[in-house]
Amino acid sequence: MKKTIVIIVLTAALAGCASAGGSTDPIEVNRTDEGKISFSKTVHPILLDHCIRCHGEDADGDLSILTYEDVVKGGKTSGFIKPGDPEGSKIITSVEKTAVPNMPPKIFPALTEDRIQALKQWIEEGAENN
Ligand code: HEC
Repeated sequence: MKKTIVIIVLTAALAGCASAGGSTDPIEVNRTDEGKISFSKTVHPILLDHCIRCHGEDADGDLSILTYEDVVKGGKTSGFIKPGDPEGSKIITSVEKTAVPNMPPKIFPALTEDRIQALKQWIEEGAENN
């Protein structure tokens, strides 16, 4: 009896993780009319999928990714987004795990290379609200 309950709870928890984001499927890269990576159609969906669980209303590290304004404002330390400088932006170093903190925490799927490339290119192109 107890075992059944444990299994039900575990299954529910795992299903919760899967539906709360962290897909590793190939992404569709949407661009603006100018040919730039779109924030609203490419970058924001990636962040909503992988980061909202902890960087939404409750904003761990004072970092919220709910809106464009929140994203460019960043967290309690500076440099979340440095327009034109992907390697210097914590959003990139955190997901490439080249500097702490590493994100998302390792129990969640890491961002795939196509997602990281899209984020980098958007920053390279000026991190606009496009
Ligand atoms: C399971 C929860 C969780 C998820 C998912 C998550 N984070 Fe975090 N993140 C945290 C916690 C907790 C902190 C605060 C502790 C710290 O700074 O190490 C934090 C802090 C950060 C910081 C430092 C903020 C600052 O200014 O000090 C960055 C950058 C960051 N996260 C980026 C991301 C990105 C980008 C994603 C999505 C790809 C993400 N996180 C997903 C839990 C999470």
